[in-house]
Amino acid sequence: MEESINKQINEEFYSAYLYLAMSGYFESVDLPGFAHWMHAQYLEEMEHGMKFWHHLVDRGGTVKLYAIQEPQREWDSPLAAFQAALEHERHITGRIHALVDLAEEVKDRAAYNLLQWYVDEQVEEEASVEAIIARLEMVGGSGNGMLMVDRELGQRQTG
Ligand code: FEO
Repeated sequence: MEESINKQINEEFYSAYLYLAMSGYFESVDLPGFAHWMHAQYLEEMEHGMKFWHHLVDRGGTVKLYAIQEPQREWDSPLAAFQAALEHERHITGRIHALVDLAEEVKDRAAYNLLQWYVDEQVEEEASVEAIIARLEMVGGSGNGMLMVDRELGQRQTG
């Protein structure tokens, strides 16, 4: 269980890195609202990683911080970036579900409880990215539409 949580800490920090890369990409194409949304997402992923980190520390486990993979830097379009984010979140959901199965198998109730928070969080994460993809498909890259979505995404609250 400890080893799998250590691997998940790495996955969460990679997620943070990926969304920070996407935030930089959106800055480079002059979409500050999109960049702000992805920056907020980066902060959330850091929290996800730290929540597992605290869990291991609190239980007297050994934290192992593995090398973080280099993320992609550019995407073909804002829609392509969000589609990549959705694909990534689905991958993370699969990992979280596998951790739940493992916690059940080894009867680690504390880990099992902690993981329920992540199960719910993944439902929210996938839903919010799917909603933005639907929006982007609706506006179809039109200038006005993109400015409108950019304004909306710029209003995301952090913390
Ligand atoms: Fe930490 Fe976006 O899952």
